[in-house]
Amino acid sequence: MLGYRHIFHAGNHADVLKHAVLTLTLQALLRKEKPFVYIDTHAGAGLYPLDDPRAQRTAEYVAGIARWWEAPATSPALAPLMDILRAENPDGELRRYPGSPSIARHLLRPEDRMVLFELHPADHQTLVEGFGGSAGVRIEQVDAFARLKAYVPPQERRGVVLIDPPYELKSDYAKVVEMIADAHRRWATGVFLLWYPVLSKLAAQRFVERLASTGIPRQLCIEYLPFIDDAAANLLGSGMLIINPPFKLDAALADLAKALGEGAASHCRVRWTVPE
Ligand SMILES: C[S@@+](CC[C@H](N)C(=O)[O-])C[C@H]1O[C@@H](n2cnc3c(N)ncnc32)[C@H](O)[C@@H]1O
Repeated sequence: MLGYRHIFHAGNHADVLKHAVLTLTLQALLRKEKPFVYIDTHAGAGLYPLDDPRAQRTAEYVAGIARWWEAPATSPALAPLMDILRAENPDGELRRYPGSPSIARHLLRPEDRMVLFELHPADHQTLVEGFGGSAGVRIEQVDAFARLKAYVPPQERRGVVLIDPPYELKSDYAKVVEMIADAHRRWATGVFLLWYPVLSKLAAQRFVERLASTGIPRQLCIEYLPFIDDAAANLLGSGMLIINPPFKLDAALADLAKALGEGAASHCRVRWTVPE
């Protein structure tokens, strides 16, 4: 089943959290000269026009990135994402929202590599048109859950894997845990970033505990619930679980949590779910 299209959700609060964590993580890896690989297991279309009727229908970006776009001052933890957003929207009008492959393309150096998996034929085609043909970029229309193992450990032995499935199928939760456990067995030093929805606080807590029970050490977690008092919201919020966070990422995420958690109804917290 491939019902999910990210254009309906581009730039929403979950993307703000995911992409802020992604930019801070990539920046941390860029501090060392040694090249690395960025693997995006569920890459989406790469870049989203916010005037597309599908994005306009839900207008989720209005309570997401538009809030920060219009804010007079942005926290240092959000600054790298906002820099990319400004580069994508140079005339000052928020028209394009960068997906994870665009964010990586802004930050990676010529010596770094990018591997993108996307199963949906239309989004795969958009990715190929936008990102294909560039040196160091590989795009595959494959089932990420089966394919990741072919890429780890990478030849560079350094890198980040972003895992961002739609979770429309309940089986995605178990598949994610299985995929991470397998990839970590092959590549224990890789940085893994996993996005997950918070549909209920209890369900999210159980999912995080399931990941902790894999025995994989060094799991850091940030959860952002922008509508904590809004029982009507169908997505309460979301989380990012980071395995092997780079040096000082926990402090950067604490700053991010402060910025995102501002306001009476918002809540954002960082915690080690499995310590160092
Ligand atoms: C949440 S979106 C990705 C958004 C993107 N990572 C970003 O941050 O801009 C999830 C994507 O996964 C794709 N997808 C669903 N199942 C997949 C699978 N088994 N393997 C690879 N891609 C899949 C969907 O078509 C969708 O485009």
